[in-house]
Amino acid sequence: MSKITAAITGVNAWTPEYKLTNEELSTMVDTNDEWITSRTGIKERRILKGEGLASSDLGANAIKGLLKKKNMKAEEIDLIICATATPDMLFPATACIIADKVGAKNAFGFDLMAACSGFLFALDTASKYIETGSYKKIIVVGADKMSSIVDYTDRQTCVIFGDGSGAVLLEPNEEGLGIQDSILKSDGSGRDYLHMKAGGSLRPSTHATVDAKEHFIYQDGKTVFKFAVTNMADVSADIMERNNLTGDDIAWLVPHQANKRIIDATARRMGVGTDKVMLNIQKYGNTTNGTIPLCLWEWEDKLKKGDNIVLAAFGGGFTWGSIYLKWAY
Ligand code: UT7
Repeated sequence: MSKITAAITGVNAWTPEYKLTNEELSTMVDTNDEWITSRTGIKERRILKGEGLASSDLGANAIKGLLKKKNMKAEEIDLIICATATPDMLFPATACIIADKVGAKNAFGFDLMAACSGFLFALDTASKYIETGSYKKIIVVGADKMSSIVDYTDRQTCVIFGDGSGAVLLEPNEEGLGIQDSILKSDGSGRDYLHMKAGGSLRPSTHATVDAKEHFIYQDGKTVFKFAVTNMADVSADIMERNNLTGDDIAWLVPHQANKRIIDATARRMGVGTDKVMLNIQKYGNTTNGTIPLCLWEWEDKLKKGDNIVLAAFGGGFTWGSIYLKWAY
């Protein structure tokens, strides 16, 4: 019997309609379109407006569209892994809420937290369940309502993040397509540079933590940038070397969309031309766990069976990693 690999067999994404432009942000904080565009590449981001809407709604919408595309019933899903840094609640898991909202009655679900690298970590985790033959239909969904933890008076962070979600269906493949290799890394000593200070067991919520704005994203941008540039490029070069791939062999680089300058540095290091780099940061900003599936979804029509694709990410933790896959359809 041939070896079972885990292949992406469908992708969908969902973003809210509201566009928060650089111009509108310029009326909220001391910033301007020129600074944001030249330092990050972002022009606008989507914001989920409306009472009672959360990351689970972003994720559920992405999955509903995916099921429709695949002509699949929600009851067929075995497992939902939700990568999110903005769960609806500290508990229960957002994956459980999503499963309920899409009607995935036979699925179990759990959340996976690796900040901006979460989608890669979740995809890798899901691939093991497929490779071992444990499950046959797994949905990996990255969903983040970043606007719920952004301080819109802090120009250092509010220009970067946006809301969005994307989901992939992972199924067994016997043609050797799908996920080939992965390198995942974390280094918790980086936690001081990118985090939310309060609301966890270390600093439970109090009036004081709210007054001190400790329930928003804190980021030391310069330090994170330095680590992101080096580590995302290194890990992507490493996975290429390990699999004897040159820049010419790569059809697409799918990078986490945190900063265009980090993406450019990664592509240069891999020897991959900009025409092979999926880039939509200008439209969505950094949607954390949504960035990579949002790219795959936008580029789906251009992907060909057998294409060598490298996914790469860096995020809070620190966490970072790279996955090499062969597109399966
Ligand atoms: O996805 C998770 C991982 N996260 C990342 O990978 C993000 C990594 N970091 C970055 O992308 C960048 O560091 C930022 C985009 C966050 C910041 O860009 P930077 O080129 O590192 O800027 P900086 O923080 O060094 O700030 C340069 C200047 C400062 O002014 P002075 O001190 O030189 O006068 C800032 O106060 O730009 C100022 N500044 C701004 N000016 C206009 C900072 N934010 C803004 C702003 N508009 N929004």
